[in-house]
Amino acid sequence: MEKTVQLYEGKAKKVYATDDPELVIVSYKDDATAFDGTKRGTILGKGAINNRMTNYLMRLLEKHGIPTHFVEELNDRETVVKKVSIVPLEVIIRNISAGSFAKRYGVEEGIVFAEPTIEFSYKNDELHDPLMNAYHALALGLATREEIEQIKAMAFKINEILKEYFLQLNVKLVDFKLEFGRLADGSIVLADEISPDTCRYWDATTNEKLDKDRFRRDLGGVEDAYQEMMRRVFGE
Ligand code: TMP
Ligand code: ASP
Repeated sequence: MEKTVQLYEGKAKKVYATDDPELVIVSYKDDATAFDGTKRGTILGKGAINNRMTNYLMRLLEKHGIPTHFVEELNDRETVVKKVSIVPLEVIIRNISAGSFAKRYGVEEGIVFAEPTIEFSYKNDELHDPLMNAYHALALGLATREEIEQIKAMAFKINEILKEYFLQLNVKLVDFKLEFGRLADGSIVLADEISPDTCRYWDATTNEKLDKDRFRRDLGGVEDAYQEMMRRVFGE
């Protein structure tokens, strides 16, 4: 499978067309941004780590019956995925208070919730990805009622699978962001990535942060944290 024209360049990935109209190639970059792209940097080796981790987790989810866009890993940084039209919602699941949740509600980080939470943000850079509820998404025609119900059910199921998986690696899955897409036939699949860029991972013993918060908050040891997650997942 060969890349043809570049279709899109995002903050962390590029997307290329292929000879097959139903398939595209995603190429992961080392570029890192935070806070709406206002903070910029490079995390050396991140592209390869996020590519391999995402593909590993998508395969795991497929085994548990979650449909994803994953098709085939081409090399370190590039993967063939099904072409989707992205539902313009960032779907965030939280198991433990952190980040914008802790800030918005004035609570400390680290409160373990009795039940996981879900929230949506409107994927819109100009508007800075505003928080929205399902009714707002419906009103704006971003998704149908059935699609939203399906996305919610899939997101909570993904949380159960991933939470258990990461706990075996002595990692607490604090929160994470998912994106979903529609295939040509209209069916909903998990898309985008699942990586230390899009998840909060805390060491289950020490609560040490093993994710992009090290970059967002200038904690140092950014590359080491990504490498450590790679070691835990692949034993490398
Ligand atoms: P938040 O606490 O900043 O809202 O982030 C919640 C989770 O979503 C966290 O694991 C990081 C992830 N996330 C993204 O993947 N992309 C984003 O643009 C934002 C704001 C968060
Ligand atoms: N990737 C997002 C941005 O660049 C935010 C984040 O992950 O913190 O704005």
